[in-house]
Amino acid sequence: MKPDTRGPLPPYFNIDPDAALAHLGNPATTKGFGAMARACEAGRSDLASRGLEADGHRTLRLFSTWEITRYLIPVATGHFRRVLKQNPDLPQGRSETEGGAKWFTLDEVLRLRAHFGTEGSKAKEYLPYRPQGLPAKMVAVANFKGGVGKTSTAAHLAMSAALDGYKVLVIDLDSQGSMTSIFGGKVQDEWQTVFPLLARHYALHLRGENQRRMDRGEAPLPLDDTLSDALDVKAQSLVQKTHWPNIDLIGAQLNLYWAEFQIPVWRMSGRGWKLWDALTDMLEADGILDAYDIVFLDTPPALGYLTINGLAASDILLVPLGASFLEFDSTGRFFDMLHSTFSSIEDAENMAARALGRDELSFQWDAVRAVVTRYDGSQQAELASLMQAYLGQTLSPHRQDFTALIGQAGEQVQGIYEADYRDFNRETYVRGRETFDATYAAFKQLLIGAWRRDALGLQEAAE
Ligand SMILES: Nc1ncnc2c1ncn2[C@@H]1O[C@H](COP(=O)(O)OP(=O)(O)OP(=O)(O)O)[C@@H](O)[C@H]1O
Ligand SMILES: [Mg+2]
Repeated sequence: MKPDTRGPLPPYFNIDPDAALAHLGNPATTKGFGAMARACEAGRSDLASRGLEADGHRTLRLFSTWEITRYLIPVATGHFRRVLKQNPDLPQGRSETEGGAKWFTLDEVLRLRAHFGTEGSKAKEYLPYRPQGLPAKMVAVANFKGGVGKTSTAAHLAMSAALDGYKVLVIDLDSQGSMTSIFGGKVQDEWQTVFPLLARHYALHLRGENQRRMDRGEAPLPLDDTLSDALDVKAQSLVQKTHWPNIDLIGAQLNLYWAEFQIPVWRMSGRGWKLWDALTDMLEADGILDAYDIVFLDTPPALGYLTINGLAASDILLVPLGASFLEFDSTGRFFDMLHSTFSSIEDAENMAARALGRDELSFQWDAVRAVVTRYDGSQQAELASLMQAYLGQTLSPHRQDFTALIGQAGEQVQGIYEADYRDFNRETYVRGRETFDATYAAFKQLLIGAWRRDALGLQEAAE
């Protein structure tokens, strides 16, 4: 007889029904969710008390001379040191040991960059391109598939752009609030999110409607407390500082989800309300688009009203996806949903526009790009090439590699730009950083191209 080398049976055989029942516990109830939430809350406070709070107070690390001259201000290290020596008023950095490497805060790096920008060689790019007199570019990162790297991509792009010298605003449209905790935001309720801006836009619409109603001799529709309160909220009051000197935040938390219920109610009673213009109109009215260079919008994994608003507001739309069959398939359906959603808005609007002889609505984006994230060249090369073949220019040619550094960076540090390179093998760091730098470079190319097109358009119009 052969010995049985198969080992014990797999664990799903021979489960005893009575033993299973004994393990099961009582049926779950709504109250049970309350208890679960309280248990999580208690665990969270415990973690917070041990300094492991995900959205606790954040400070940004320092930047070394090596990193500055390698990644941020492209000059030879010797020249950099000489310039500091000749200009004692410039930040001089601090070293941990006598004669050791000098470290600078990002604020100091920004001052140094400004100095090189005005005093340094004109042939070098110290300050990034930004045409005068044009508004900030809005960039939405969206895909209705969850976990594809929307938040990571948006956060890394925001940080790259800030390191590059741009002034950045990050808007969290996801009530999960991941982006908000990456930037250490504190949000009490929906009144500290974009919600009041959307409400204000609707309230202004309603006020205009009421004027017309009264002109026709009809009774005005009342503005409820929410709408009256929202009329007083300016975007500036929602903006929070972050631990990055040139990144600000409009945060989110769970209550923002309320907008998904409230917006359709407003849509029903105010038929002519252009919900898709709400965010852009309010940011523009409050001068936000002049105060920043780039506005990044992180969206939830759903095509709800907040996402539609973010997409409609954006100039550049990035759609992250992994090079896997499921994500490719689901992204195809996402594009299909975008097509039907935006064409149904256009059709409905344009029926009225044609009747009234007004301009027709046609949504337009400077660029839409799918971006491969978490790419593993050893497993996914074939699928990624196939995606490239079918999507052509719509797929950004740079693939953002899977990098363990993202998960490893630690509790208080989010992603590669906040991590101290000394915590990693230098080579691992350089490789991880390269892939996110390349993601940024691909994005920056779109940004600069789009600004350039606008600038040339302005010039032409003026001639
Ligand atoms: N390039 C990368 N390398 C390794 N891990 C990554 C990379 N990009 C993202 N991740 C990880 O993948 C997970 C999902 O990423 P992320 O939260 O950015 O996705 P998301 O699309 O915003 O998710 P959601 O739909 O829930 O908002 C996270 O654990 C993140 O750390
Ligand atoms: Mg996310």
